[in-house]
Amino acid sequence: MDVFEAMGTCRAMRHLTPDPVPEELIDRVMWAATRAPSPGNTQGWDFVVVTDQARRAAIGAAVREAMGDRVSRMTHHDRTSRLMLEGTQNLIDTLGAAPVIILVCGPVIYPYDAPREQFTWSALYPAAQNILLAARALGLGTVFTSLFRAAEPAIRAELGIPEEIRIAALIPMGWPAREFGPVNRQPVERFVHRDGWEGVKRHHGPPL
Ligand SMILES: Cc1cc2nc3c(=O)[nH]c(=O)nc-3n(C[C@H](O)[C@H](O)[C@H](O)COP(=O)(O)O)c2cc1C
Repeated sequence: MDVFEAMGTCRAMRHLTPDPVPEELIDRVMWAATRAPSPGNTQGWDFVVVTDQARRAAIGAAVREAMGDRVSRMTHHDRTSRLMLEGTQNLIDTLGAAPVIILVCGPVIYPYDAPREQFTWSALYPAAQNILLAARALGLGTVFTSLFRAAEPAIRAELGIPEEIRIAALIPMGWPAREFGPVNRQPVERFVHRDGWEGVKRHHGPPL
């Protein structure tokens, strides 16, 4: 699969089978993560890759306890948001059974003489996207989540992640239990401004 097909079909996969992911594939995904660009090529990232069953279960239980059925009780504006919220609730309910849970983390180290947190996120988000695309290319499903925020102290304690290390994403990874397919995005022309801002036809906001 080429990179364009991977980008065009890399849907958030919130339903995963519990089947294990071979170590070789995990290694390839983490190779991709560590090939990402970062400010000053600092490579200021750490990835906690959790396959241990007890630890995955503990993370899943912590998130489930913190989130409860909050998401499934949210208002469903349309079919797309209903499917997304149902998927997110499923993810919360089954997170501990995801065969791999990746925490994308990193220190605040750049610029070295006056480190600023914004540069930490600048390193971690491209690395997270590389994880998503590499997994998709290998047939594995992932979803970028901020679910760790609901239970951050418990997750930090379970995995021993130090206080000074920032966490950017919790990414469950496994074999998809739903179909991949084209991502639902607005036309390119709505976002691309050629040679200047003129001709912009819409303001940012919810999809029209
Ligand atoms: C920064 C960020 C945070 C996200 N957090 C969550 C989350 O906590 N839970 C979740 O189910 N999806 C989360 N997502 C996934 C988005 O909901 C998803 O990418 C978006 O709805 C588009 O869906 P698609 O990727 O299937 O096309 C997050 C995505 C990003 C980029």
